[in-house]
Amino acid sequence: MPTVLILGASRGIGYELASQYRQAQWRVIATVRDDDAKKRLTSLGCEVLQVDLAQASSCSGLAWQLDGEKLDLAIYCAGVMDRASAPQPPTQEAFDHVMHTNVMGAMQALPQILPMVEAARGTLVCLSSVMGSLQETGRGNAWLYRVSKAALNMVVRCLQAEQTRVTVLAMHPGWVQTDMGGAAATLTVTDSVSSIRQSLERIRARADSKDRGAFFNHDGASLSW
Ligand SMILES: NC(=O)c1ccc[n+]([C@@H]2O[C@H](COP(=O)([O-])OP(=O)(O)OC[C@H]3O[C@@H](n4cnc5c(N)ncnc54)[C@H](OP(=O)(O)O)[C@@H]3O)[C@@H](O)[C@H]2O)c1
Repeated sequence: MPTVLILGASRGIGYELASQYRQAQWRVIATVRDDDAKKRLTSLGCEVLQVDLAQASSCSGLAWQLDGEKLDLAIYCAGVMDRASAPQPPTQEAFDHVMHTNVMGAMQALPQILPMVEAARGTLVCLSSVMGSLQETGRGNAWLYRVSKAALNMVVRCLQAEQTRVTVLAMHPGWVQTDMGGAAATLTVTDSVSSIRQSLERIRARADSKDRGAFFNHDGASLSW
Protein backbone atom coordinates (compact mmCIF):
# COMPACT_ATOMS: atom_id res chain seq x y z
CA MET A 1 0.00 0.00 0.00
CA PRO A 2 1.64 3.29 -1.06
CA THR A 3 1.81 6.17 1.42
CA VAL A 4 0.99 9.82 0.73
CA LEU A 5 1.57 12.76 3.07
CA ILE A 6 -0.79 15.69 2.50
CA LEU A 7 0.30 18.93 4.16
CA GLY A 8 -2.76 21.15 4.68
CA ALA A 9 -5.68 18.73 4.29
CA SER A 10 -8.49 20.26 6.36
CA ARG A 11 -10.63 21.41 3.40
CA GLY A 12 -10.63 22.17 -0.31
CA ILE A 13 -8.14 20.39 -2.55
CA GLY A 14 -6.12 18.91 0.32
CA TYR A 15 -9.20 17.29 1.86
CA GLU A 16 -10.33 15.90 -1.50
CA LEU A 17 -6.84 14.50 -2.13
CA ALA A 18 -7.02 12.73 1.24
CA SER A 19 -10.47 11.40 0.46
CA GLN A 20 -9.63 10.13 -3.05
CA TYR A 21 -6.31 8.56 -2.01
CA ARG A 22 -8.11 6.75 0.84
CA GLN A 23 -10.75 5.50 -1.62
CA ALA A 24 -7.88 4.23 -3.79
CA GLN A 25 -6.60 2.26 -0.74
CA TRP A 26 -3.54 4.42 -0.10
CA ARG A 27 -2.25 4.99 3.39
CA VAL A 28 -2.81 8.72 3.97
CA ILE A 29 -1.01 10.85 6.52
CA ALA A 30 -2.67 14.26 6.65
CA THR A 31 -1.78 17.45 8.49
CA VAL A 32 -4.43 19.88 9.75
CA ARG A 33 -4.53 22.70 12.27
CA ASP A 34 -7.64 22.14 14.40
CA ASP A 35 -9.50 19.39 16.23
CA ASP A 36 -12.60 19.45 14.01
CA ALA A 37 -10.49 18.92 10.91
CA LYS A 38 -8.62 16.15 12.72
CA LYS A 39 -11.95 14.37 13.37
CA ARG A 40 -13.02 14.73 9.72
CA LEU A 41 -9.77 13.32 8.40
CA THR A 42 -9.62 10.55 11.00
CA SER A 43 -13.10 9.44 9.97
CA LEU A 44 -11.80 9.04 6.39
CA GLY A 45 -9.20 6.61 7.74
CA CYS A 46 -6.27 9.04 7.63
CA GLU A 47 -3.51 9.28 10.20
CA VAL A 48 -3.59 12.89 11.29
CA LEU A 49 -0.92 15.28 12.59
CA GLN A 50 -1.66 18.78 13.82
CA VAL A 51 0.74 21.31 12.33
CA ASP A 52 0.46 25.03 11.68
CA LEU A 53 2.65 25.31 8.61
CA ALA A 54 3.00 29.09 8.98
CA GLN A 55 4.71 28.65 12.38
CA ALA A 56 8.30 27.46 12.27
CA SER A 57 8.01 26.12 15.82
CA SER A 58 5.01 23.96 14.84
CA CYS A 59 6.65 22.74 11.59
CA SER A 60 9.81 21.78 13.41
CA GLY A 61 8.09 18.74 14.98
CA LEU A 62 7.37 17.09 11.62
CA ALA A 63 10.65 15.21 11.32
CA TRP A 64 10.31 13.35 14.61
CA GLN A 65 6.56 12.80 14.18
CA LEU A 66 7.26 11.12 10.85
CA ASP A 67 10.50 9.43 11.89
CA GLY A 68 11.09 6.18 9.96
CA GLU A 69 8.36 6.78 7.34
CA LYS A 70 8.82 6.09 3.64
CA LEU A 71 6.69 8.46 1.60
CA ASP A 72 5.83 7.56 -2.00
CA LEU A 73 4.21 10.94 -2.43
CA ALA A 74 4.11 14.18 -0.43
CA ILE A 75 1.93 17.12 -1.44
CA TYR A 76 2.22 20.65 0.00
CA CYS A 77 -1.36 21.99 -0.31
CA ALA A 78 -1.56 24.68 2.35
CA GLY A 79 -2.08 28.09 0.88
CA VAL A 80 -3.72 31.44 1.47
CA MET A 81 -4.81 34.14 -0.98
CA ASP A 82 -4.60 37.93 -0.86
CA ARG A 83 -6.57 39.66 -3.61
CA ALA A 84 -5.07 43.18 -3.57
CA SER A 85 -3.77 44.34 -6.96
CA ALA A 86 -0.49 45.96 -7.88
CA PRO A 87 0.60 48.63 -7.11
CA GLN A 88 -1.24 48.63 -3.75
CA PRO A 89 1.45 47.93 -1.13
CA PRO A 90 0.71 44.97 1.15
CA THR A 91 0.54 45.52 4.87
CA GLN A 92 3.29 43.86 6.87
CA GLU A 93 0.62 41.59 8.34
CA ALA A 94 -0.74 40.51 4.94
CA PHE A 95 2.76 39.95 3.59
CA ASP A 96 3.77 37.81 6.56
CA HIS A 97 0.53 35.79 6.49
CA VAL A 98 0.78 34.92 2.79
CA MET A 99 4.53 34.43 2.61
CA HIS A 100 4.72 32.41 5.83
CA THR A 101 1.99 30.02 4.72
CA ASN A 102 2.75 29.71 1.02
CA VAL A 103 6.55 29.89 1.11
CA MET A 104 8.13 29.64 4.54
CA GLY A 105 5.97 26.63 5.47
CA ALA A 106 7.23 24.80 2.39
CA MET A 107 10.83 25.79 3.14
CA GLN A 108 10.47 24.58 6.73
CA ALA A 109 8.44 21.41 6.18
CA LEU A 110 9.82 19.99 2.94
CA PRO A 111 13.48 19.65 4.01
CA GLN A 112 12.29 17.58 6.98
CA ILE A 113 10.35 15.14 4.85
CA LEU A 114 12.75 14.91 1.90
CA PRO A 115 14.70 11.99 3.43
CA MET A 116 11.41 10.09 3.83
CA VAL A 117 10.47 10.73 0.20
CA GLU A 118 14.02 9.80 -0.80
CA ALA A 119 13.71 6.52 1.11
CA ALA A 120 10.81 5.57 -1.19
CA ARG A 121 12.35 7.21 -4.30
CA GLY A 122 9.12 9.15 -4.27
CA THR A 123 7.65 12.38 -5.58
CA LEU A 124 7.27 15.72 -3.83
CA VAL A 125 4.59 18.05 -5.19
CA CYS A 126 3.90 21.69 -4.35
CA LEU A 127 0.44 22.97 -5.26
CA SER A 128 1.44 26.14 -7.01
CA SER A 129 -0.56 28.30 -9.40
CA VAL A 130 -0.32 29.54 -12.94
CA MET A 131 -0.66 32.93 -11.21
CA GLY A 132 2.94 32.37 -10.08
CA SER A 133 4.19 31.99 -13.66
CA LEU A 134 6.39 34.95 -14.63
CA GLN A 135 5.81 34.28 -18.30
CA GLU A 136 2.01 34.01 -18.08
CA THR A 137 1.56 37.22 -16.08
CA GLY A 138 -0.69 39.60 -17.98
CA ARG A 139 -2.34 41.24 -14.95
CA GLY A 140 -1.26 42.48 -11.53
CA ASN A 141 -4.28 41.27 -9.55
CA ALA A 142 -3.60 39.32 -6.34
CA TRP A 143 0.04 40.33 -6.67
CA LEU A 144 1.12 39.21 -3.21
CA TYR A 145 -0.32 35.76 -3.91
CA ARG A 146 1.39 35.72 -7.33
CA VAL A 147 4.71 36.69 -5.73
CA SER A 148 4.31 33.92 -3.15
CA LYS A 149 3.62 31.27 -5.80
CA ALA A 150 6.56 32.46 -7.92
CA ALA A 151 8.68 32.04 -4.78
CA LEU A 152 7.19 28.59 -4.16
CA ASN A 153 8.14 27.67 -7.73
CA MET A 154 11.74 28.61 -6.88
CA VAL A 155 11.50 26.40 -3.79
CA VAL A 156 10.68 23.52 -6.15
CA ARG A 157 13.60 24.35 -8.47
CA CYS A 158 16.11 24.68 -5.63
CA LEU A 159 15.03 21.47 -3.89
CA GLN A 160 15.21 19.57 -7.18
CA ALA A 161 18.63 21.03 -8.02
CA GLU A 162 20.02 19.45 -4.83
CA GLN A 163 18.22 16.09 -5.26
CA THR A 164 18.76 13.17 -7.56
CA ARG A 165 16.65 10.51 -5.85
CA VAL A 166 13.40 12.47 -5.52
CA THR A 167 11.23 14.08 -8.21
CA VAL A 168 10.12 17.55 -7.12
CA LEU A 169 7.24 19.20 -9.02
CA ALA A 170 5.08 22.29 -9.02
CA MET A 171 1.47 21.66 -10.06
CA HIS A 172 -1.39 24.04 -10.88
CA PRO A 173 -4.72 22.47 -9.83
CA GLY A 174 -6.83 24.57 -12.23
CA TRP A 175 -9.35 27.16 -11.10
CA VAL A 176 -11.19 25.10 -8.52
CA GLN A 177 -14.47 25.51 -6.60
CA THR A 178 -13.10 25.77 -3.06
CA ASP A 179 -13.15 28.48 -0.41
CA MET A 180 -10.17 30.01 -2.23
CA GLY A 181 -11.36 29.50 -5.81
CA GLY A 182 -15.00 30.50 -5.19
CA ALA A 183 -18.22 29.22 -6.71
CA ALA A 184 -17.54 30.68 -10.18
CA ALA A 185 -14.43 28.51 -10.66
CA THR A 186 -14.41 26.26 -13.71
CA LEU A 187 -13.47 22.95 -12.07
CA THR A 188 -15.14 21.02 -9.26
CA VAL A 189 -12.76 19.92 -6.55
CA THR A 190 -13.57 16.30 -7.40
CA ASP A 191 -12.55 16.75 -11.05
CA SER A 192 -9.43 18.76 -10.23
CA VAL A 193 -8.18 16.16 -7.76
CA SER A 194 -9.01 13.24 -9.99
CA SER A 195 -7.05 14.94 -12.80
CA ILE A 196 -4.11 15.68 -10.44
CA ARG A 197 -4.04 12.04 -9.29
CA GLN A 198 -4.12 10.67 -12.84
CA SER A 199 -1.30 13.02 -13.92
CA LEU A 200 0.81 12.11 -10.90
CA GLU A 201 0.30 8.41 -11.61
CA ARG A 202 1.50 8.88 -15.20
CA ILE A 203 4.49 10.94 -14.04
CA ARG A 204 5.42 8.40 -11.36
CA ALA A 205 5.03 5.47 -13.78
CA ARG A 206 7.19 6.91 -16.56
CA ALA A 207 10.01 7.93 -14.16
CA ASP A 208 11.41 10.31 -16.77
CA SER A 209 14.26 12.56 -15.65
CA LYS A 210 12.73 15.36 -17.77
CA ASP A 211 9.88 15.59 -15.23
CA ARG A 212 12.27 16.54 -12.42
CA GLY A 213 11.81 20.11 -11.29
CA ALA A 214 8.97 20.68 -13.77
CA PHE A 215 5.81 22.81 -13.60
CA PHE A 216 2.63 20.99 -14.63
CA ASN A 217 -1.01 21.81 -15.09
CA HIS A 218 -3.39 19.41 -13.28
CA ASP A 219 -3.92 17.53 -16.55
CA GLY A 220 -0.21 16.90 -17.01
CA ALA A 221 0.44 19.63 -19.61
CA SER A 222 3.69 21.57 -19.10
CA LEU A 223 3.47 25.14 -17.82
CA SER A 224 6.08 27.81 -18.31
CA TRP A 225 7.83 29.34 -15.32
N1 LIG B 1 -8.73 26.85 -5.64
C1 LIG B 1 -8.05 27.28 -6.71
O1 LIG B 1 -8.64 27.72 -7.72
C2 LIG B 1 -6.55 27.22 -6.73
C3 LIG B 1 -5.89 27.61 -7.91
C4 LIG B 1 -4.49 27.55 -7.96
C5 LIG B 1 -3.79 27.09 -6.86
N2 LIG B 1 -4.45 26.72 -5.72
C6 LIG B 1 -3.63 26.28 -4.59
O2 LIG B 1 -4.07 25.00 -4.14
C7 LIG B 1 -3.85 24.89 -2.73
C8 LIG B 1 -5.15 24.48 -2.04
O3 LIG B 1 -6.11 25.49 -2.33
P1 LIG B 1 -7.66 25.34 -1.97
O4 LIG B 1 -8.40 25.91 -3.11
O5 LIG B 1 -7.95 23.98 -1.49
O6 LIG B 1 -7.76 26.40 -0.77
P2 LIG B 1 -8.73 26.45 0.50
O7 LIG B 1 -9.99 25.74 0.22
O8 LIG B 1 -8.77 27.88 0.88
O9 LIG B 1 -7.91 25.59 1.60
C9 LIG B 1 -6.69 26.06 2.04
C10 LIG B 1 -6.04 24.98 2.87
O10 LIG B 1 -4.77 25.47 3.34
C11 LIG B 1 -4.72 25.25 4.74
N3 LIG B 1 -3.88 26.20 5.44
C12 LIG B 1 -3.90 27.55 5.36
N4 LIG B 1 -3.00 28.07 6.21
C13 LIG B 1 -2.41 27.03 6.84
C14 LIG B 1 -1.42 26.92 7.84
N5 LIG B 1 -0.84 28.00 8.38
N6 LIG B 1 -1.06 25.70 8.25
C15 LIG B 1 -1.65 24.59 7.74
N7 LIG B 1 -2.60 24.62 6.80
C16 LIG B 1 -2.97 25.84 6.35
C17 LIG B 1 -6.16 25.41 5.19
O11 LIG B 1 -6.29 24.91 6.51
P3 LIG B 1 -7.27 25.60 7.62
O12 LIG B 1 -8.63 24.99 7.41
O13 LIG B 1 -6.64 25.22 8.91
O14 LIG B 1 -7.27 27.08 7.35
C18 LIG B 1 -6.86 24.62 4.10
O15 LIG B 1 -6.77 23.24 4.33
C19 LIG B 1 -3.33 26.25 -2.27
O16 LIG B 1 -1.94 26.21 -2.16
C20 LIG B 1 -3.76 27.19 -3.39
O17 LIG B 1 -2.91 28.31 -3.48
C21 LIG B 1 -5.81 26.78 -5.63
